[in-house]
Amino acid sequence: MKIIKLITPVLFVVLTLSVCAASAQVKKKVVAKKKPATTVTKAPPPPFATDAEIADGKEMISKSDCLACHKIEEKLVGPAYTLIAAKYPQNQNSLDTLTKKIVTGGKGVWGQVPMAPHPNISQADANKMIKYILTLNTKNPSTSTK
Ligand code: HEC
Repeated sequence: MKIIKLITPVLFVVLTLSVCAASAQVKKKVVAKKKPATTVTKAPPPPFATDAEIADGKEMISKSDCLACHKIEEKLVGPAYTLIAAKYPQNQNSLDTLTKKIVTGGKGVWGQVPMAPHPNISQADANKMIKYILTLNTKNPSTSTK
């Protein structure tokens, strides 16, 4: 009888511990399974332009002939870049329109003086130039419909 009295509490403790350990393991597994699903579904939309693209665009503009006709904040032969940024929202439509304008030129949007064509500038490079110009105005976010 004495031995049973001694063993019973010990057995009880051992049993309780093993049940706890088992349920803790189950919990861990559930948490580990859930994690990837939540990160995949909530991916944020890509930004209009990355810092690298903006830096590239700025450098290419300074190396091309753009600054002979454009200033950042004042009208020269062409409109100020900040005015262009205020006119066009940061979206794909603006990118397409303005990229084309750099490569093929054109007139009539800001006056009758034509924007010089640049057939030697690639679409990809022109895209970065536009990304730099349009991010000069931070008050004109991609949600604007102007
Ligand atoms: C010979 C002068 C000249 C040069 C060089 C020039 N531009 Fe322009 N640019 C203009 C003029 C003039 C306009 C206004 C055209 C209009 O009214 O449609 C203009 C307009 C623009 C616009 C706005 C287009 C629109 O439809 O609203 C962008 C963007 C632009 N230029 C970027 C550039 C970039 C980038 C370069 C260098 C690769 C460059 N320009 C070189 C004269 C120039």
